[in-house]
Amino acid sequence: MYSARWPLLDAARETGAGHSAGRLLRGWRERALMTQEQLADKAGLNVRTVRRLENGGLRQPRSRSVVLLAQALGLDGAERALLTAVTRGPSPAGGDDPAGTRPPPEAVIVPRQLPAGLTSLAGRDRELTVLQDHGGDAPPVVSLDGMAGSGKTALAVHAAHRLAPGFPDGQLFVDLHGHARATAPVEPGHALARMLRALGVPGGDVPEYLDDRAALYRSVLAERRVLIVLDDAADEHQIHPLLPGGPGCRVIVTGRRRLSGPGDTRNLSLDLLSPAAAVTLFAGVAGRERVAGVPGVVLDEVVARCGLLPLAVRVAADRLRAHPTWTVRHLLDRLAGDRLGELKAGRYDVAAALDRSYDRLPADLRRAYRLLGSYDGAHFGTDTAAALLETTASRAERLLERLLDAHLLLEAAPGRYRLHALVREHAARMRPCPGD
Ligand SMILES: Nc1ncnc2c1ncn2[C@@H]1O[C@H](COP(=O)(O)OP(=O)(O)O)[C@@H](O)[C@H]1O
Ligand SMILES: [Mg+2]
Repeated sequence: MYSARWPLLDAARETGAGHSAGRLLRGWRERALMTQEQLADKAGLNVRTVRRLENGGLRQPRSRSVVLLAQALGLDGAERALLTAVTRGPSPAGGDDPAGTRPPPEAVIVPRQLPAGLTSLAGRDRELTVLQDHGGDAPPVVSLDGMAGSGKTALAVHAAHRLAPGFPDGQLFVDLHGHARATAPVEPGHALARMLRALGVPGGDVPEYLDDRAALYRSVLAERRVLIVLDDAADEHQIHPLLPGGPGCRVIVTGRRRLSGPGDTRNLSLDLLSPAAAVTLFAGVAGRERVAGVPGVVLDEVVARCGLLPLAVRVAADRLRAHPTWTVRHLLDRLAGDRLGELKAGRYDVAAALDRSYDRLPADLRRAYRLLGSYDGAHFGTDTAAALLETTASRAERLLERLLDAHLLLEAAPGRYRLHALVREHAARMRPCPGD
């Protein structure tokens, strides 16, 4: 899979070792059949500089020296990018540079890409405990899955802000657009190019092929401590090239489907909120003054009509805040009618979020989803589903499994299924498209 152009990257990957600038330089020098003296002579540098670089005594040489060495060694673009990245160093804050050899501060960019997070989360204590686990056995990849609007991004970003101080070489955040409105999921090669540039690899030195980009990415990260958030992943194919190989990095992935990562991935499926956490979210967004004096049962009923889904609760609270004349009881009455029509506020829109899950389904699942939406009872078993879907019980069971994976169906008890109330309303509105 790795071309002959990448012998050191292959070696690093095969041995599982990271590599320092010194080890890289020595490998390239030996490949070029040069002694340290010959390299110094050809590059126009002092031999002590070459020696110190190779033995790790000079970790961040002047950028001019790096250019001269790359020329003298005949490095290609990708190799030069790797050398630049490993000699650029993780942080401008270290105090180990008495000789003043560190490049000027503007050349050292530590990516800090996390978007603003919520100052406090309602509920999610159990998930936060797993995400913040620092111990030696902490999983290198945590994957959060859950239905549209269940709070995956909010939780990932909140946890990442808390974890950030433990990752001094930076934090990367990539929206993979797995379920974006008008955008196709981001190609992994495109995501890698952006991440490499954020990590200091000059744009012109990003390799052409996906495998080479992924190899360079793992090499650049091999000795850094970087926290990586991959938000809204479409599937495994999209995220696998974006997972670093070394032990110093941590990855949080979010997605609407349960994704199988490498062996030590920890999967967390987000449930709906508890009624108490949902009321906390509602009051926090609507404003304490708007809920003061409102009986607890009324607030409980509002969040129940939102199906305890964080996005729906948030939109309902936004609606109340946007209408100073409304009372909570008025909002409750409105939520008795067309709930999906009501649960829209600015860019937050429950029906649109569900549309994007539906649009990503293959035709057989879209049909199953629509037909299940017509079922009136509370729960159903495989036999009822088979009758609704006009198929055999075993085929119905496989369809139900796939809808469970997509978080468009809930399993209330073994073999007993139900649609979330808002999902059911949504499924019942869907009509087949030509070709469905
Ligand atoms: N635990 C929570 N506490 C407070 N607000 C939340 C919580 N979970 C989600 N939200 C809010 O709900 C909305 C939807 O959450 P989001 O993380 O975008 O969902 P998802 O990524 O699962 O589609 C966001 O506005 C977010 O701020
Ligand atoms: Mg999200």
